[in-house]
Amino acid sequence: MDIRENIASIQSALEEELRTIEDIRQLDEVRQRVLGKKGTLTALLRSMGQLSPQERPAAGQLINAGREAISALLDEKQSMLNARDRELKLRRETIDVTEPRPLPRVGVPHPMSLVLEEVLSALTGLGFDVVEGPEVELDHYNFELLNLPKDHPARDAQDTFYVDDNIVLRTHTSPVQARTMLSRKPPIRIACPGRVYRADEMDATHSPVFHQIEGLVIDKDVTMGDLKGTLDTLFKKLYGNDIETRFRPSFFPFTEPSAEVDLTCITCRGKGCRVCKGTGWIEVLGCGMVNPKVLEMCGIDSKEYSGFAFGIGLERITMLRYGIKDLRLLYEGDERFLRQFR
Ligand code: DAH
Repeated sequence: MDIRENIASIQSALEEELRTIEDIRQLDEVRQRVLGKKGTLTALLRSMGQLSPQERPAAGQLINAGREAISALLDEKQSMLNARDRELKLRRETIDVTEPRPLPRVGVPHPMSLVLEEVLSALTGLGFDVVEGPEVELDHYNFELLNLPKDHPARDAQDTFYVDDNIVLRTHTSPVQARTMLSRKPPIRIACPGRVYRADEMDATHSPVFHQIEGLVIDKDVTMGDLKGTLDTLFKKLYGNDIETRFRPSFFPFTEPSAEVDLTCITCRGKGCRVCKGTGWIEVLGCGMVNPKVLEMCGIDSKEYSGFAFGIGLERITMLRYGIKDLRLLYEGDERFLRQFR
């Protein structure tokens, strides 16, 4: 067989084979078989040694031309396979950005956070600063400075968690009053939200950990009328203009006089229902004029200044606000419960 025919048959066999090739690996094998060290075309090139010097140049040209043609065929197939693979890969990895997907589950604010936010925004609207204090508190601030000396019987009413003789878990947010009076000069207008602790059993209306919002105003000529006006404005802002406040005399060592405040029942708007036990009123907080003894102990001249204070139970007003009957629901974190409040 002469060289020309030889090349032609290698080429046509290759063309035939290329039609059946499906991937790059197969193609590399074929390339080796033809153009590799032991390839058919390479063998042909080697066989030139047996030719006479006169025949060689023409044979060399033929073989080179054949080699180029064959390379071109292989390269063409290779780029075709590459293009196809790329196409497949792109199709496989396509992200359909328009495909609808389930939305990530977003949390919701806790009902107590919602109510706290409402109360604080109403109070800051009235010029109150928000101030916080420590939950692990000195007996001195939690009791002494609030006119509850060591042997005072009213201490019994607050089932205190003692850390040691002088340190307690605060039983109310009132110690923040004392801390603020000692650190700021009047006029003072503060709202102090926070967690408080009492050695109580857990039931539908009690928890050893709960929350209060303390209010304190100290200025010249502050009167009980200002207290009444402030609370009235606060609750009208929160629950509507038909809501009224009612003061009943009470006792707290740190206020004199002291009062407990009832609100028009938010559930029945005063008509009488199960929540207010038919009275049309619900009790929401304790308050009073800051006891002059407390002012003096906290470094404020009680002849120049007077003030009022109040303490709201956050759990209580949250339950009243949303008609929640069991306190424990507020602490269990059950999503079916929590997702009802927006
Ligand atoms: N500290 C009281 C309590 O925990 C609540 C309270 C009553 C706070 C009267 C006050 C107040 O500031 O004036 O029961």
